[in-house]
Amino acid sequence: VLTASLPAWDGEMVAVAHHAGTWMFVCVHSTRLGPAAGGTRMKVYADPEDALRDGLRLAAAMTRKNAVAGLPLGGGKAVLAVPRIPGGAPRRELLLRYAELVNGLGGTYVTACDMNVTEADMDVVAERTPHVMGRSAEAGGAGSSAPSTAVGVYHAIRTAVAHVFGDEDLRRRSAAIQGVGAVGSVLARLLAEAGMRLAVADVDEARARRVAREVGAEVVPADEVLSTGCDVLSPCATGGILNEDTIPALRCRAIVGAANNQLREPADAERLAARGILYAPDFVVNAGGIIHLASLELLGESEAARDRRLEAIGRTLAECLRRADQERVSPQVAAERMAAERLAGGPGARLSPRART
Ligand SMILES: NC(=O)c1ccc[n+]([C@@H]2O[C@H](COP(=O)([O-])OP(=O)(O)OC[C@H]3O[C@@H](n4cnc5c(N)ncnc54)[C@H](O)[C@@H]3O)[C@@H](O)[C@H]2O)c1
Repeated sequence: VLTASLPAWDGEMVAVAHHAGTWMFVCVHSTRLGPAAGGTRMKVYADPEDALRDGLRLAAAMTRKNAVAGLPLGGGKAVLAVPRIPGGAPRRELLLRYAELVNGLGGTYVTACDMNVTEADMDVVAERTPHVMGRSAEAGGAGSSAPSTAVGVYHAIRTAVAHVFGDEDLRRRSAAIQGVGAVGSVLARLLAEAGMRLAVADVDEARARRVAREVGAEVVPADEVLSTGCDVLSPCATGGILNEDTIPALRCRAIVGAANNQLREPADAERLAARGILYAPDFVVNAGGIIHLASLELLGESEAARDRRLEAIGRTLAECLRRADQERVSPQVAAERMAAERLAGGPGARLSPRART
């Protein structure tokens, strides 16, 4: 039952465990550049095969993201397919059993937070394995990665604006942010400080109003934000929002945001290019989160060194856009080529994360 997705996958291995109704899949896509790193997603799936498919796809995406970000990390992802989101003692038992699974892989996979998994959960996981990032600051971890993700998106927006308008002066530009949660709210503040005119939207309207008040932005309804006239649209909510149905209605010049998997299908990159809209590949733009964790927790770097890596997101995007123009492909394809080249030139060795600190 659980093998239908595996033959088409080009990754290295999947570790499987079962605990009290929960299937756990640790998908190691690539260790070519270092230990496979990526978050743990906890979710209720219709069946375990869906969970495995999600894990395989997300692990491959982490390989690309980490490679393009210049990190000494491969790509992996773990999925905990729970019958319902647990709390209290059952949650703790599940996390400890999961930690044993991760620990058994001996550092081949390094875990972190993702959907429905928090810093407090990573503190529990750390009781049984050292191969974990994203613990709380109180437990010696790097704390929330969201502010660094926002800083990376900010650098990418500067690059995209310079590419489209010929100068990177944000004071003459406008942006619309879809989703002002952990990442979007910090991004709104950074863009407002840089003098950009802002519109913000969130399905949680009270949150949108609060952020708008704090940064001096306009609020637009959540179902209108994609068709709001602006220079830069920044999706910071959920995936799949750029598709056959939404692309014809867009009224922006560039799309640069934190959300994962913004394109519903590969053809959407071509649809955006045909409309003359610059699409900055999400996995280039939103690498700030993994950079934050890897830099501070795995590589033992200073905050200044982390900030330099975040700034480099802007230069990586510039390189991607230059190649896209030169090679007459979409930025998405150019970024995929950049990842493939880094992987091809990689050391091909497994690095122990702890040995590097
Ligand atoms: N946190 C990180 O470090 C990080 C790193 C990489 C990528 N991402 C991605 O960035 C996105 C935002 O992450 P976050 O940590 O800010 O999440 P979050 O849950 O804190 O914020 C998301 C916000 O989007 C809103 N939202 C959901 N659906 C919406 C819709 N259809 N229209 C408008 N608003 C909507 C939610 O109400 C919430 O306020 C996610 O897709 C996440 O996967 C986050």
